[in-house]
Amino acid sequence: MVRHLILAGLAVATLATVLAAVLGPWGWWFPAIAFLLLLLVAVRDATQRKHSVLRNFPVLGHMRFFLEKIRPEIQQYFIERNYDGKPFDRDQRSLVYSRAKGFKGDKAFGTELNVNEPGYEYFVQSVAPKPAPEDEHRVRLGGPDCLQPYDASLLNISAMSFGSLSKNAVLAMNKGAALGGFAQETGEGGLTEYHLAHGADLIWEFGSGYFGTRDEHGNFDPEVFREKSRLPQVKAINIKLSQGAKPGLGGVLPGSKVTAEIAAARGVPEGQTCISPASHSAFTTPRELIRFVARLRELSGGKPIGFKLCVGSRVEILAICKAMIEEGVSPDFIIVDGGEGGTGAAPLEYQDHVGTPLVEGLILMHNALVGSGLRERIKLGCAGKITSGHDIVRHIIQGADFCMSARAMMMAVGCIQAQACHTNKCPVGVTTQDPRLYRALDVTDKGERVERYHRLTVAEAGQMISTMGCEHPEELTREMLRRKVTATQSTSYETLYQWLRPGELFGGVEGGWGEDWDYADPDRFSAGHPGKYVFHDRGPLTPAGVIPEADRRYAGGAAGVRFPDGRPAAASSPSGAPVAGGSRENGSPAGTGKRPEGEPGTTAGAQHTTRDPVPEPDNVDPRDDSRSRNPGMA
Ligand SMILES: Cc1cc2nc3c(=O)[nH]c(=O)nc-3n(C[C@H](O)[C@H](O)[C@H](O)COP(=O)(O)O)c2cc1C
Ligand code: SF4
Repeated sequence: MVRHLILAGLAVATLATVLAAVLGPWGWWFPAIAFLLLLLVAVRDATQRKHSVLRNFPVLGHMRFFLEKIRPEIQQYFIERNYDGKPFDRDQRSLVYSRAKGFKGDKAFGTELNVNEPGYEYFVQSVAPKPAPEDEHRVRLGGPDCLQPYDASLLNISAMSFGSLSKNAVLAMNKGAALGGFAQETGEGGLTEYHLAHGADLIWEFGSGYFGTRDEHGNFDPEVFREKSRLPQVKAINIKLSQGAKPGLGGVLPGSKVTAEIAAARGVPEGQTCISPASHSAFTTPRELIRFVARLRELSGGKPIGFKLCVGSRVEILAICKAMIEEGVSPDFIIVDGGEGGTGAAPLEYQDHVGTPLVEGLILMHNALVGSGLRERIKLGCAGKITSGHDIVRHIIQGADFCMSARAMMMAVGCIQAQACHTNKCPVGVTTQDPRLYRALDVTDKGERVERYHRLTVAEAGQMISTMGCEHPEELTREMLRRKVTATQSTSYETLYQWLRPGELFGGVEGGWGEDWDYADPDRFSAGHPGKYVFHDRGPLTPAGVIPEADRRYAGGAAGVRFPDGRPAAASSPSGAPVAGGSRENGSPAGTGKRPEGEPGTTAGAQHTTRDPVPEPDNVDPRDDSRSRNPGMA
């Protein structure tokens, strides 16, 4: 009915204006041509078969597509409140833009957050704060077997490939990292000339596609790896097991972004969607993974080797821990990516519903390493919506040693959260391979922004640590972070979660942890056991007899777990807690809230260094447009 009315109305209007133009003044031709064009559009809309809304509402239906197109901008500019934008709210974006421009990001008049709402978290400051540190806190990546340890910043650029990022974005981040003395992780798309351009410290990542280190069949090539890993810029190597936004999917680079240059860097056909397989061909079991770590360490000349994953099955994490113990080999670092992590392209189902959120995954991984007596050998990194000093400090309290940030770094080089990264049409040139778009991204200017954002954010983290009366991140305790659990009650992280004591798993833990530890098999990746898989601790769900005898060889604590030289993996710590490797554990007594510390020079103890000591003046500037809580222009 409406369709016919529109068509008839336009036909009459066209006829009338054409007649008026023929018989009257020539100016009638303007509306006549306009109505004629609209009539043609209406006929096309009414006869096409793809869009029902256009068939039913010719011409008018286009309004729907137009409004849908500009909806994100309307939402962002007119509707969104300062604290509810997604994935990053205006306050978070504003802070990054502000710091990237060199302002501290101070605001006036007090918090807009509801401080009595369940979920609200706050730090417990000291009556006697320490002076802010002059030097940036650094974290040593390099366990007992590492020959070339690397002192990492508390905040580094998380993995993003050339391919998902434009050449200018990679260059700007590389420049920023070089200026600021922190690390840029390459992403799984390979180590390219752009990562080497400004001489930044690099964490070289590869995933299951082995891009940049693969043979003609797509398998890992040790000789190529040996050569590249020994480049002086490569400070550490990271094996990507999974990514929070799409765990279990491997990597996806849409064909529109696979230019000749990217195809050459990765060794794949130009223009075709480039997929890294879901799992690795270089290893298929936890034990093989750990042996692969040892092999990479040897091939690289003893550089720190780690792996990155989004936590999934606790049984699998514990199986990896058992493999480390049995092989006597551990990675130097592990990076936990949260399910809320970013991506250039991934199915919505995966982004929204697969993978453990960062806090839960981080605590799980920290507990697994502590409980199996391995924590002091391995530094724990984390990624997932980290933008501020507050984020850094709270994740350290939750178990991390250092942080990685991807999307905040993208914002520092100009990302405005238009969320079109997968279309090759990024309006600010960050995630596009179209030179007409990425040439707008000025490498020098944006590189300096990355450096400023990093410096001011890490300085703010250092200041917050001092405010809590600590001189070093290692002194932070879980009592210092509290969460409102109801409108009238709050509790600290010490009591909010279960925390395993060093080596506790060897002693037989009641409930979920103990059952999963018993079940974990270093020769098998297996997501769970029938009816028993849960994350949080709880009483046994089924009778013990359900676990097959073959899978129970670890039951009874450390009896079955030995290092290759025959030593039992569990020994007594000074606190009396059973630990792996005996003397290596510092034996923090239960409930102190202190994480095991590294031994300087041999294990991964966090270090003070004199890098990046630039003191930041109190540079609150009235020109800083973000002070009004307006994200301003990136
Ligand atoms: C555009 C883009 C590309 C990414 N590419 C990779 C990659 O190649 N390898 C990887 O391990 N993670 C990749 N990630 C994930 C990030 O490294 C990071 O783990 C995740 O986004 C969480 O950090 P964020 O919340 O600070 O963005 C990518 C993320 C984005 C946004
Ligand atoms: S501006 Fe939009 S398309 Fe570009 S990087 Fe940011 S979110 Fe992606």
